[in-house]
Amino acid sequence: MTRIPLIAGNWKMHKTAREGVEAVTALKPLVAAVEGVDIVVCPPFTALADVGRALAGSNIELGAQDMHWEPQGAYTGEISGPMLWDLGCTYVIVGHSERRRYFRETDDDVGRKAVAAFAHELLPIICVGETLGERDAGRTEEVIARQLRWGTAGLDPAVGDRLVVAYEPVWAIGTGRAATGAEANRVSGLIRGWLAERFGEGAQQTRMLYGGSVTPENIGEFITQPEIDGALVGGASLDPPAFAAIVGAAAGGG
Ligand code: 13P
Repeated sequence: MTRIPLIAGNWKMHKTAREGVEAVTALKPLVAAVEGVDIVVCPPFTALADVGRALAGSNIELGAQDMHWEPQGAYTGEISGPMLWDLGCTYVIVGHSERRRYFRETDDDVGRKAVAAFAHELLPIICVGETLGERDAGRTEEVIARQLRWGTAGLDPAVGDRLVVAYEPVWAIGTGRAATGAEANRVSGLIRGWLAERFGEGAQQTRMLYGGSVTPENIGEFITQPEIDGALVGGASLDPPAFAAIVGAAAGGG
């Protein structure tokens, strides 16, 4: 069974609900003919409802950028899995490096969120990646192995085939300095190897995304790598023609 490529756009803290609807209204016709690629947009929470309605009947799915691990409770400012599911989300990003860095999210938090995502019928996109300092210190593999171990600690071994892991080197995010295809492929292969120890054969179906300064110009370098099954796109996902071009490249195998 081959892995279906996945291109996810992480809008981060960009676009009001109205701007989000405008963006997906422009995006829909550009990707309507694309087959064989799972396409996801992850708007801010405040735009999910309107963007979800605008996506109805299209081949684009809705994802959130984060979630809390409890289904409800006294957690001021937080959003739960059932709330996201109710809005039509099918994916949720967990453990993005910006959440780890600015909001002190721990590996353990990420693991709890991943468990909660599956519990509420959302597919988690678990993000891992080393900082520049960690990379320069030769600690890339150690850091990612730890993030992955905790990030998947509570998961049922049967979910390996539905898992999505995004390798996003922190130094490549928003810097215009993407990793090389070969380097991203090497780390993705390592990750798949670690997942195989935990999830067995299912790890062969886990989709591995690369994230960090992905553009229409460089997507081909990543999507053609044997261990890479798609991309988690930040900046370029804000521009419908650029995002559509990335999706198109994934449909064509690069
Ligand atoms: P950029 O594509 O803007 O580098 O962002 C990557 C990212 O963090 C996606 O989650």
